[in-house]
Amino acid sequence: MNILVTGGAGFIGSNFVLGWIQRKSGKVLNLDKLTYAGNLNNLSTIQENPDYSFARGDIGDRALVEKWLREFKPDAIVNFAAESHVDRSIHAPSDFIHTNILGVFNLLEETHSYWKDLGTDARKQFRFLHISTDEVYGSLNAGDPAFTEISPYQPNSPYAASKASSDHLVRAYHHTYGLPVLTTNCSNNYGPYQYPEKLIPLVILNALQEKPLPVYGDGKNVRDWLYVEDHCQAIRAVLETGKPGETYNIGGSCEMTNIEVVRTICGILDRIKPRKTGKYEDLIRFVTDRPGHDRHYAIDAGKMEKEFGWKPKENFKSGMEKTVRWVLDHPVWHEEILSGSYQKWMDTNYGQRKKSEA
Ligand code: NAD
Ligand code: TYD
Repeated sequence: MNILVTGGAGFIGSNFVLGWIQRKSGKVLNLDKLTYAGNLNNLSTIQENPDYSFARGDIGDRALVEKWLREFKPDAIVNFAAESHVDRSIHAPSDFIHTNILGVFNLLEETHSYWKDLGTDARKQFRFLHISTDEVYGSLNAGDPAFTEISPYQPNSPYAASKASSDHLVRAYHHTYGLPVLTTNCSNNYGPYQYPEKLIPLVILNALQEKPLPVYGDGKNVRDWLYVEDHCQAIRAVLETGKPGETYNIGGSCEMTNIEVVRTICGILDRIKPRKTGKYEDLIRFVTDRPGHDRHYAIDAGKMEKEFGWKPKENFKSGMEKTVRWVLDHPVWHEEILSGSYQKWMDTNYGQRKKSEA
């Protein structure tokens, strides 16, 4: 299967693309705008692979998307491209509207027009897989059951609202035009290549630098955590055998309070890279809460298990140990982000390329 992946230079997208190429599953064209969260270093091991190609661009740029669809002729599109950080959506929501709503709308329009012109068999086989989040369902109260595929949408942050809008658009293109879409709603991911603004990589890096570990509010907000490779495995299963028009909830069956997550990381670091004096926990600081902070997410992934036999392979302890070791083994990846040198390299490289294309 030859696939167009959008947002393949981000955290989950790059893990997915690496896995696709390693498995020799088919060709990948990675279309990514390279925002602050997109990092081509994630894909350096496959950049010369003939099955992989990269194009810089915005999913909202219809002429560009049209050009790549006609040239590359994908059998499927997997849409990871998004603004993904809740805190940023609180301070600057407009980028979220641009990409997560308008961008997805434009991508759907161009996909629809490409798909309509395919031959009968190719049209039947084609898939548009939209990667979404459990945050569209809002927050659970004590005693509420976990989110299922039919839980009502009650998004609370600008990020969640923008993803909910995109899910609705994707659904509408199936019901109105018959576009063979699939949507996955996944819980919080962690693992290699996660941008260090998110809780887990931020805490690991701060701890290693002896900086405070910021825990919002009382630290008792609950998230369900899934190791990124398990998410990628689930996406492959849905892409291969999911039923068009269906949505699938993906989760780790691993609900933890934020303070438990931070303490687990501290415990692993105490064991494998102890501080000179004291414990990493001593660095924990409770800070002002995030406005509108959702209290509790939990996913019922029963449909994934029933339909595909899918279950996460990693538990939180094994996945977190791998993640901490990955951070320790990749100091340059992190230094380049933290020092801004990757962004500078990109501005120079792509700034020049843009000028020469003009
Ligand atoms: P990320 O922020 O790490 O990566 C997003 C990627 O999209 C980046 O490479 C960025 O350059 C690219 N991008 C942004 N705007 C674009 C545009 N207009 N056109 C083309 N490319 C653009 O995000 P992530 O954590 O890898 O998340 C990927 C997807 O999975 C998102 O849709 C997100 O909503 C969803 N998701 C994430 C999590 C999680 O815990 N990270 C959980 C569930 C669902
Ligand atoms: P985050 O990684 O931003 O993911 P999301 O908001 O999509 O769930 O945050 C995970 C949880 O950790 C969330 O409840 C907010 C909390 N958090 C902190 O307590 N401190 C931090 O510095 C960050 C970034 C998040």
